[in-house]
Amino acid sequence: MTVTAEREPAQVATLDPAAIAREASPEALSGTSRTPALLIEHLSKRFVVGRKRKPVTAVHHVSIRIERGEIYGILGANGSGKSTLIRLVSTLLTLDEGRVAVFGHDIEREEMRVKRLINRVSVDAAFFKKLSPWENLVYAARLYGLEAGPAQREAVRILSRLGIKESRMSRPVEQMSRGMQQKVAIARALLTSPALLLLDEPTTGLDPRSKLDVQTFIEELRADHDATIVLTTHDLDEAERLCDRIALLNDGRVVAEGTAAELKTQVVRDHGGAATLENVFMTYTGRSLDEDVEEESDDAE
Ligand SMILES: Nc1ncnc2c1ncn2[C@@H]1O[C@H](COP(=O)(O)OP(=O)(O)O)[C@@H](O)[C@H]1O
Ligand SMILES: [Mg+2]
Repeated sequence: MTVTAEREPAQVATLDPAAIAREASPEALSGTSRTPALLIEHLSKRFVVGRKRKPVTAVHHVSIRIERGEIYGILGANGSGKSTLIRLVSTLLTLDEGRVAVFGHDIEREEMRVKRLINRVSVDAAFFKKLSPWENLVYAARLYGLEAGPAQREAVRILSRLGIKESRMSRPVEQMSRGMQQKVAIARALLTSPALLLLDEPTTGLDPRSKLDVQTFIEELRADHDATIVLTTHDLDEAERLCDRIALLNDGRVVAEGTAAELKTQVVRDHGGAATLENVFMTYTGRSLDEDVEEESDDAE
């Protein structure tokens, strides 16, 4: 049994993301250019499932450049390739084509280095369900190589900032709502102070109150930590509220990119209609956000 499939015990955390960022940018030091937090160039990924099926191109020649301190949104319907993109960046999947660099470090050539700079939270985060959130966090902290004392204090601090009362911190995770569990998952990812935080649909399936808590927390994160955040969502309001820039993903391709304001101006200028992200999405993807792209898989994920 593992606490999380996302990190391995050998990866010792570095606590100061600013130091990591400084260290991680030889180019910045030499003054040639500012190293982006995340650089994705012509990235492609295909899946072949079974013999009779044709390959699914989940990610198709995607190129994205994300600067430090940005909250960058990847907006797309179900099946558009968001999770695949996140999993590729977090080195959980191998690349078919293209390259990815995190703070200037190539994710294939410097995999261990990159893993120390990132952390990923997905909807299906795994816990020890019988243990409390506090125990889960402290356990993860020890795996990450943090000392017990500071890890415990940090766990309490992060959990309370997420609106989890101290009385709730010691009850089993399995007794918590999905919203609560999602907050614990984000809290756990924060223990390592990742310089690049990848949030895969952090608020999907949450009740409105928990959703708001998590969104507020994400905004505070950027302000307080020196973190760069990539988040996927199929919630237009969330993308507009949280994200400095947004990429629209459709069938594995980036079909539009910009700030919410730029995208709205662009759609009205080129295609008319309302200055809303909904219009942007419908125009550039030809579908509604609630639509599932395809239902090829016949088994539950
Ligand atoms: N491990 C996998 N094996 C086969 N097909 C996959 C796998 N993961 C994703 N896919 C397919 O890739 C496409 C994109 O999926 P995904 O990245 O999960 O989209 P999203 O996160 O936007 O809903 C879908 O067609 C999905 O069925
Ligand atoms: Mg997904």
